Amino acid sequence: MERPQRRLPLFDEQSATFFITTIHGLEEELVAEINELAADCGIQLSSEPTVASAGVYVRGPWTLCLAMNFGLRCASRILCEIYQGEVRTIEDVYASVEKMNWPAFFKLDKTFMVNATSTDPNIKAPSLNLKIKDGIVDSFKRQTRERPSVEKDAPQVRVMARLHRGLLSVSVDTTGIPLSARGYRTATHDAPLSELLAAGLVRMTGWNRLCRELRRDNPEKVYFSRVEEKSSQREKKIASEAGEEKVNRRIPGAILLSPDFIDPMCGTGTFAIEAALALLNRRPQLERKHFAYEWLEILPASAMKQIEYIRRTIRAQELSLLDVFQKISLYKQHALGRVVDPDSVKAPLLCRDKDLTAIAAAKKNAEAAGVSKLIHFEKRDIMQMHVDDPEGIVVMNPPYGVRLGEEEELKAFYKDIGDTLKKNCRGWQAWILAGSEAHAGSVGLRATRRKKVFNGGIECLWLQYVLF
Ligand SMILES: C[S@@+](CC[C@H](N)C(=O)[O-])C[C@H]1O[C@@H](n2cnc3c(N)ncnc32)[C@H](O)[C@@H]1O
Repeated sequence: MERPQRRLPLFDEQSATFFITTIHGLEEELVAEINELAADCGIQLSSEPTVASAGVYVRGPWTLCLAMNFGLRCASRILCEIYQGEVRTIEDVYASVEKMNWPAFFKLDKTFMVNATSTDPNIKAPSLNLKIKDGIVDSFKRQTRERPSVEKDAPQVRVMARLHRGLLSVSVDTTGIPLSARGYRTATHDAPLSELLAAGLVRMTGWNRLCRELRRDNPEKVYFSRVEEKSSQREKKIASEAGEEKVNRRIPGAILLSPDFIDPMCGTGTFAIEAALALLNRRPQLERKHFAYEWLEILPASAMKQIEYIRRTIRAQELSLLDVFQKISLYKQHALGRVVDPDSVKAPLLCRDKDLTAIAAAKKNAEAAGVSKLIHFEKRDIMQMHVDDPEGIVVMNPPYGVRLGEEEELKAFYKDIGDTLKKNCRGWQAWILAGSEAHAGSVGLRATRRKKVFNGGIECLWLQYVLF
């Protein structure tokens, strides 16, 4: 579904329509995250979040805009829609934008830039961009006799526009520096994952659901349903042709989740750091000083007064390190029926890599994120992989190839990973971010889930393997 049907004005004093941008492939996780965040903050949504391409639409009160900026892990920007209308020509675009009351959106002394995309073959993005910029400048000139300055590198106000099937929609960005930049990556190594993508992939494993359950006083067992709901006939047919029913009998339908987490090829540690932040329920941008909504005139004063209240509400749900260790021991005893000495609960997350410089980078980043006490670091080759606990989650993002050389060598490497997992990680679920179908095929195990996601420009597969 592209966007919610609406007859309401795009925004008023109480509420607005937001488009939350994300990485293609993470939209459904973002919908779930928005629903959870709104519930945690006691915010009533005016419409169900709906999935669009690389984003989600939702309508809600202005406080939702604040909460989403402070709290979402799977989002990049929170855009607020300010105009929508049909246009046929580039002149229509200019006229529509020029007649808007731009001084009501931002003040003359703010710098701005336009970022436009178009699927219309007759109105290409660069000319759309230019006409919208002209329309904004002329609207200011008409109303104030002065023009605001355009700033391409670090504008205070970002106007985002999209022309699709004759419909022009214009939004303002309330975020500024994208939410994916968490600020903890102080050291880098080979091809680190975007923090946003890592957070979304970790969510898909069921980890965040487990973290929510851990926070309850009487946690119950958390399962990951192995059988994915097939929504369309085509998906059902593909699943049946792939023999999934046959596999279902051999692999348990529900996989027990346990707070034991390993990234055996951790690089800069992004997976483990995002998993640790989820354990602490610490929101990535809660302590950030500035957001672009400060440069806009659009948020009503009543919402701006709620900033500290929203921050406090979110902060009150964080756990301390001590809480996390206690909750884990409680879950292991009560839900998993294990005998656990609370004083001996070890760091639940494990980062390994064969390269010491990667381990050093991961440690430095975990320290910057304030989560290093939840992660144990170890130099080790994945082929020497072993696990101590009966169940848990392994995630990994193996190299895509350039550095490992020949494609055949890389396929053999993926095969060895598959063999090692099968032999040494029985009872666990493993997730591999494979750079291509060929790599996925080389693992040699039957994937129980496959999700297409984009890592930079590369179309990847996030594959789940249940190891039994
Ligand atoms: C694409 S990077 C992982 C990036 C990481 N997800 C991040 O966000 O920074 C792949 C990592 O695998 C490690 N690696 C390659 N071969 C390995 C092996 N045989 N055993 C363990 N680690 C290995 C590399 O040192 C590198 O850090």
